[in-house]
Amino acid sequence: MINADIIDTMIRTAKEARSHAHCPYSGEAVGACVLASDGTLYGGCNVENASYGLSCCAERVAIFRAVADSKRDFDAIAVVADTDDPCVPCGACCQVMAEFKIRDVIMANLKGDVQVADLMDLAPCAAGKTLR
Ligand code: THU
Repeated sequence: MINADIIDTMIRTAKEARSHAHCPYSGEAVGACVLASDGTLYGGCNVENASYGLSCCAERVAIFRAVADSKRDFDAIAVVADTDDPCVPCGACCQVMAEFKIRDVIMANLKGDVQVADLMDLAPCAAGKTLR
């Protein structure tokens, strides 16, 4: 399990990444941060498109940045948005987290609410790889 200091650092990195969101259609800026097992942090923001279905969530952008930088092993991911409750990842992002066995999911909002969940509780039926 990751400790409180790392959680704070990940949320801070996610907030910084959130400031780069391209979200002219929804107006909802989201930031994410994935922690590679070597300690490297990768931030991501949502990137929307006029063809809405092409939009990509912040979590996937962070994971894809890390994978493109050769990382395959991860300890946790954080996501933050200006939501009433901590921001919950969508099913597509949970599926990508399952691909890379990212179990610890830190969900936060700008008010400072933080919730940590096991990916198995968010997406118990993710396809492809068994996490049990
Ligand atoms: N979004 C994310 O980036 N991550 C989430 O966990 C929730 C949703 C994005 C997708 C879209 O660009 C905008 O937030 C509104 O749904």
